[in-house]
Amino acid sequence: DITSIPFAHHGTPALLTPAERGARTAEAPFGSVFTEHMVSLKWTGTDGWHDGEVGPYAPLVLDPAAVGLHYGQSVFEGLKAYRTADGRTAVFRPHAHGDRFRRSAARLLMPELPTQTFVHAVEELVRADAAWVPAEEHRSLYLRPLLFASEAHLALRPAREFRFLLIAFVTERFFGAPRPITVWISEDYARATPGGTGAAKFGGNYAASYAAQARATAEGCDQVVWLDAQERRWVEELGGMNIFFVEGTGAQRRLVTPPLSGTILPGVTRDTILSAAPELGLPVEERPVSVEQWREGCRQGRITEVFACGTAAQVSSVGTVRTADGDFTVGDGSPGPVAGMISDLLAGIERGLAPDPAGWMHY
Ligand code: COI
Repeated sequence: DITSIPFAHHGTPALLTPAERGARTAEAPFGSVFTEHMVSLKWTGTDGWHDGEVGPYAPLVLDPAAVGLHYGQSVFEGLKAYRTADGRTAVFRPHAHGDRFRRSAARLLMPELPTQTFVHAVEELVRADAAWVPAEEHRSLYLRPLLFASEAHLALRPAREFRFLLIAFVTERFFGAPRPITVWISEDYARATPGGTGAAKFGGNYAASYAAQARATAEGCDQVVWLDAQERRWVEELGGMNIFFVEGTGAQRRLVTPPLSGTILPGVTRDTILSAAPELGLPVEERPVSVEQWREGCRQGRITEVFACGTAAQVSSVGTVRTADGDFTVGDGSPGPVAGMISDLLAGIERGLAPDPAGWMHY
């Protein structure tokens, strides 16, 4: 019977009025305007987890030799709180995110925050910032848990002091307008290798992807598609989101997504779709898909839709695929019905309007 670490409340931030909040978040780019509170916890080898606090969002005081800044011992999560149709707040699958946070920490030799304390921290922040949880469709409060090495030492060994922080911001659509996205197949960079950190939500994975993302942007694309590092042939993920292919039409339709091979981030939205799609009459299959199969499948009409999915991206249809050998379109390049069905199902659950037999929404 594990009891959670307590969180003391300290300080009272100046609160924005609803009108100020609305004005500041209206056109704010993803992750740029934060709420007034944050949750903080410390961990040391001698005392374990301690100093749990809910307080004002504020800059940190950090030692310039903090390990996390130099050697990147840092992992994070991303999850969302929604305003349900009956006016309550609820968080989507916080236990699944807490479990993944522990696995990420373990991979980087960091202390594992008990999932119960992770969920407790989330509850505390959502309660403190409840006024920020938006009711409009497609909007939510994005919660960002972070764990990093705060110990000051530059020997190359895992730190013995860590900080956990939880901050939040209002988010709408990750890609702006609900239009199909264009993706660039990266053949020169690799995101993850067998035995590496690809399955962990490790900060360095994201920094390492910037060069490829910059190339994708230069090619006029929204996102980079990562291939396996060894053969540069198998589709893995999009860096900040997983990928699904829709094969066949009518009653023959099925969803296909690459299997978790250790180099793919195990997305909570990916897992949710794998669990929920069969009830929509869509069988699912975890199977590798190569770039040639993708291109040929689209040419022959066997692959009818492709979509990206993630906490931030939700369900985003892929319209055009750009490669060094030229472009191809998925279907007619517009969002397909399967992505729409899945997106509606998730939105219904998030708003508390669709049945939630697995208890994904945490009130
Ligand atoms: C998310 O989908 O929440 C992610 O973590 C991707 C992100 C870094 C934008």
